[in-house]
Amino acid sequence: MKVPFFDLTRQYESLRDEIDAAVADVLTTQRCIGGPHVQALEEALAARVGVAHGIGVSSGTDALLVSLMALGIGPGDEVITSPFTFVSPVEVIMRVGATPVFADIDETFCLDPAAVEAAVTPRTRAILPVHLFGQTCDMAALGRIADEAGLLIVEDLAQALGATFEGRQAGSFGDLGAVSFFPTKNLGAAGDGGMVFCDDDELAARVRCLCRHGAQPKYHHVALGGNFRLDALQAAILGAKLPHLDAWNARRRAHAAFYDQALAGVPDVTRPTVGPGRRSVYNQYVIRSERRDELQAHLAEAGIGTAVYYPEPLHTQPAFRHLGRPGQFPRAEAACRQVLALPIFPELTEGERTEVGGRMSEV
Ligand SMILES: Cc1ncc(COP(=O)(O)O)c(C=O)c1O
Repeated sequence: MKVPFFDLTRQYESLRDEIDAAVADVLTTQRCIGGPHVQALEEALAARVGVAHGIGVSSGTDALLVSLMALGIGPGDEVITSPFTFVSPVEVIMRVGATPVFADIDETFCLDPAAVEAAVTPRTRAILPVHLFGQTCDMAALGRIADEAGLLIVEDLAQALGATFEGRQAGSFGDLGAVSFFPTKNLGAAGDGGMVFCDDDELAARVRCLCRHGAQPKYHHVALGGNFRLDALQAAILGAKLPHLDAWNARRRAHAAFYDQALAGVPDVTRPTVGPGRRSVYNQYVIRSERRDELQAHLAEAGIGTAVYYPEPLHTQPAFRHLGRPGQFPRAEAACRQVLALPIFPELTEGERTEVGGRMSEV
């Protein structure tokens, strides 16, 4: 049996009528920029996360970028983040002219609070924790460090919409939170999209203004902004999908529980660790093994799709080599050698996950 790493067509097929109707509504009304679908999604997601404001933006990367812009982070400022993640956090820190400072990860693949604490300098302005693979960082420890040093927090919850830490939703801890609606995220658009979460009225107004060319009112520019708006078509599609997010996250968690059992006895395979107080929504199920490449080849031969997130840490890549040296973040570097993500999208069938578990035991 072939098992795809993910298959987005299944989700569309299951919701075709709702999604097509939402798209048709935007096309019929031609409310293509802003409008009721964007507003409804902003309100619904802010309420879910438990903050006062959601501001729809053009992508998860832009959600992070506009967050740093709104906080006035720039040249001379340092922002602490992870070397083991997608590139966006380091990219946006550099784009605003600030300096990324890496801190190593812990066994959950998220930032190690002790490493963060050790990385704080008088120039540190903010921490940018990445809630990787579906679970939050230790937000109690990071919150304490930020409070003591007077730092801002911008959460990257691109992979963790619906995850909780001590019962509180990802996106509600930081001064700002940034989510992505990239198609393979827990709530995925049919293209790019993102949202900024914020509890502070003034800060939210600044984010909104920056997303519209820094204009207030229209054609009167009070700040250097950009075009970072969420597309109405994407908002309509996301609005049709949103009522299903909890069920999809529950399904991901059920797949993870199955894999946890199925892989319990498999030699040289470490199952993912979820930190205390955290509820993961498993955007990815990532195992570790020194035999990763062998395992991946074996699964590929059996027709099972897998992926390596991430094959290279950020601090050794050509664009960011000046930010660290090989060996400086050993846990991130080891993760890059060992990680393998297994299929875990909500529509994965029981037969398919059984096949994955069985094939994993064969190597
Ligand atoms: C951890 C993380 N941060 C940021 C992003 C950027 O999101 P986007 O692709 O919507 O720009 C992604 C995913 O793509 C991500 O996985």
